[in-house]
Amino acid sequence: GVEQLTRVTPSMLKAHNKRDDAWSAFNGKVYNITHYLPYHPGGEKELLRVAGRDGTKLFSLTHAWVNVDYMLDGCLVGFLVPES
Ligand code: HEM
Repeated sequence: GVEQLTRVTPSMLKAHNKRDDAWSAFNGKVYNITHYLPYHPGGEKELLRVAGRDGTKLFSLTHAWVNVDYMLDGCLVGFLVPES
């Protein structure tokens, strides 16, 4: 349930910026994108640009019509919150 989801700060997000451990935030939600990387139609390299950071802007510039919430539902880590 939603109550078990982690609150992720930007510095926590930044710790997951590797090919084998990649998190990214889209519209306030943090996803573990590691396992999706090989399946991204735009390629791994493009998607890795947002590893460890907020990808909302780049995502909406490239394909605002794609539904991340639906596609990465099982990869949801938690919510992006301000640095404490
Ligand atoms: C294409 C998903 C993040 C760059 C696509 C497509 C999907 C997708 C479904 C095909 C769209 C279509 O043909 O209409 C995702 C998901 C993302 C994500 C679920 C988040 C986890 C990103 C980011 C970037 C990016 C952050 C840019 C840095 C691209 C590009 C294409 C593409 C350039 C076009 C590839 C082509 O048509 O040759 N992505 N994407 N994507 N994506 Fe992403």
